[in-house]
Amino acid sequence: MNHFIAPSILAADFANLQRDIEMINQSDADWIHVDIMDGMFVPNISFGFPVVKAVAKHAKKPLDVHLMIVEPDRYLQQFKEAGAASITVHLEACKHLHRTVQAIKELGCKASVALNPHTPVASLVDIIGDLDMVLIMSVNPGFGGQKFITNTYKKIKELRMLASAENPDLIIEIDGGVDQSNVNNLLNAGANALVAGNSVFSAADQLNAIKQLKNPLKS
Ligand code: DX5
Ligand code: ZN
Repeated sequence: MNHFIAPSILAADFANLQRDIEMINQSDADWIHVDIMDGMFVPNISFGFPVVKAVAKHAKKPLDVHLMIVEPDRYLQQFKEAGAASITVHLEACKHLHRTVQAIKELGCKASVALNPHTPVASLVDIIGDLDMVLIMSVNPGFGGQKFITNTYKKIKELRMLASAENPDLIIEIDGGVDQSNVNNLLNAGANALVAGNSVFSAADQLNAIKQLKNPLKS
């Protein structure tokens, strides 16, 4: 099964965003991961619509928008209009998750739900069939460059199992601390989409860092 790579522009150089988007355009990456933080759901603020629109203008790959915001329903349409191809909301931020997921689909976006490290995979049991993707946080959301939490492997396996009957095509995306050292283990556990911020943008050769994640040497 081929996997998707989504470099996170949270780690890009915001003063040279067009240059960094063009690097991703030329790379083996599949999507561009866009982290939206509101200072409420997570203890950090990233950027908003003007930046997403500016990214969309130059991007040749779909925007994978990760909303770390409270009550994301308020802004779904605006993110669609700003260029989102997929929208991920946090389970912990939604009172009526089923309604939110349907609203994302009605906009024509891929619908995805994110789980914080403490949130059990089993909490998705009654919605798994409605989802295009689940994003498992492998760090606590809010910041790039954090250490990967190894309990993630167990969660990926549980989620693959949970999805096997009802939603075998479910995309399982991993976000946080992904680099060359854990890519094989993540894929072997059943993940098929990987977000990478620091491991791409702090590399001397960014194109090569993406290539290594897309075509890892088998360990
Ligand atoms: C963290 C964000 C991530 C972040 C990943 O809250 O959701 O997408 O950019 O960055 P790294 O790969 O550096 O952990
Ligand atoms: Zn993210």
